[in-house]
Amino acid sequence: MTRALEACRNIADLRALARRRMPAPIFHYVDGGAEDEVTLRRNTQAFEDYELEPEYAVDVSAIDTSTTILGQQLDWPVVAAPTGLLGLLHRDGEIGVARALARSGSVFTQSCMSNVTIEDVGAVPGAKMLQAYTFRDRGLTREFIARGREAGFVALCLTFDVPVPGMRERDLLYGLTVPPRLSIGSLLDFALHPRWSLRYLSGPPLRIANVAHRIAEGTSDLSSIIQFVTNQYDPSATWDDAAEMIGYWDGPVAIKGVMTPGDAKRAAAAGASAIVVSNHGGRQLDGAAATIDRLAPVVDAVGGDLEVILDGGIRRGSHVIKALALGARACMAGRAFLYGLGAGGEAGVDRACTILHQQIRRSMALSGVVRTADITRERVSWRRPARPV
Ligand SMILES: Cc1cc2nc3c(=O)[nH]c(=O)nc-3n(C[C@H](O)[C@H](O)[C@H](O)COP(=O)(O)O)c2cc1C
Repeated sequence: MTRALEACRNIADLRALARRRMPAPIFHYVDGGAEDEVTLRRNTQAFEDYELEPEYAVDVSAIDTSTTILGQQLDWPVVAAPTGLLGLLHRDGEIGVARALARSGSVFTQSCMSNVTIEDVGAVPGAKMLQAYTFRDRGLTREFIARGREAGFVALCLTFDVPVPGMRERDLLYGLTVPPRLSIGSLLDFALHPRWSLRYLSGPPLRIANVAHRIAEGTSDLSSIIQFVTNQYDPSATWDDAAEMIGYWDGPVAIKGVMTPGDAKRAAAAGASAIVVSNHGGRQLDGAAATIDRLAPVVDAVGGDLEVILDGGIRRGSHVIKALALGARACMAGRAFLYGLGAGGEAGVDRACTILHQQIRRSMALSGVVRTADITRERVSWRRPARPV
C-alpha cells in the first residue's frame, strides 16, 4: 500500500486523494448527483439526525461484525453497491473492487453496465451479486440473468429506480455526455493527469462489455454503446416485469430502489427475498428523502417478510450502526469504495474496506454491543430539532 493511501484516515481523505488522481470529468461522474444534489447531500447529512445510545460495562473484547444477507455470510455488514463504468476510474476497475471486497469478507455487486463481462467477474473468487435492469429488450435482461447464473453469481439485484435516466448536471458541465462534449478546460484536465491518461491510453479500449456483442461493427466506440444502453431503460416496466425476472432467476433477488412501505410490499408480492432502500445515491430523483429517513417505516411494513438493505450516503462506520439499529441487515456503499478505487486502484478499495470495517468495530465497542444482532432500535434515537423560541 502506498504511503498516500496509508495516510488516509477516513473516506473523506480517500475522496480528496481520488479527486487529485482523477481528471475532473471522471471525479464528478462519481461524486455528482441529480439536479441540485439535495438528495445526494441529505443522504449523508441525515445520519446526523440519529443519535447512538451507548451502554457501558459490557464485555466487548470479542466484537463480531458478521451478518447474513441473501443466504450469504458476510464478515462485516457492508456490500459493494452496483456501479457502472469502473474502468474509467482506474485500470483495476470492477475486477479490483471484486477482489478487494472478497478479501475483506464481503460481497461485490457487478453492474450490468460494467467495463468487463459477467464471466470476467464470475471468475474472481468469492460470492458476487449481479445487477440488472428490466431493459426494453427483455431478451437482453434474460440473457444477463442466464449468464449470471452460469457464471456462479449468488444473487440477483434488480434496479427499479431508472424508468428514465436522472439529470446529472455536473456531467453536462464537464462534458461527460453522449456524445462527449469535453470543454477546453476538461481536455486540459486530462492533460494535467498524465498518469491517469497514460494508463487509459495504454490499456484495452473501454466498452460496456456485456452489450458489446449487440452493437453493430464499426459503431463500437464507447459513446455509441452508452447511447445504445441509455435507450434500453424502459419507462413502461412494472411489478409484473419484476415478478417475471425474479421467476427467471430462480434464486435470491433483491429489488433496489424501494423508498416506501407500499413498494416494499409490492416487492414482497413479486417474490423478492430482499429490498434495497435506495434513491440511487441521489443520482435519480432529486428531492427524494434521505434513505435513512425512509428505513424504519419500510422495515416496520415488511421486515418480517423480507431482508432490508440500506443504501446511500454511507461514509462512516457509525452510519452503518445507525442503519442496523433501524432494522437493516446490511448496507450497500457505492462512492465509499469508488473513492478508494480512484485514489489507488484495488489497494485503495482495500483501504476503504479496512477504514469502514475498523470504524464499525470501534463504534460497536463504544456502543456496548458485541454482535450485529444486538444493534437494536433502542440503540438509536431521533434527535428532535430544538423547538423554536
Ligand atoms: C458512479 C456511479 C455509478 C452507478 N451505477 C449504477 C448502476 O449501474 N446500477 C445501479 O443499480 N446503481 C448504480 N449506482 C447507484 C449505486 O448502486 C448506489 O445506489 C449509490 O452509489 C449509493 O450511494 P453512495 O454512493 O452514497 O453509497 C451508481 C452510483 C455511482 C456513484
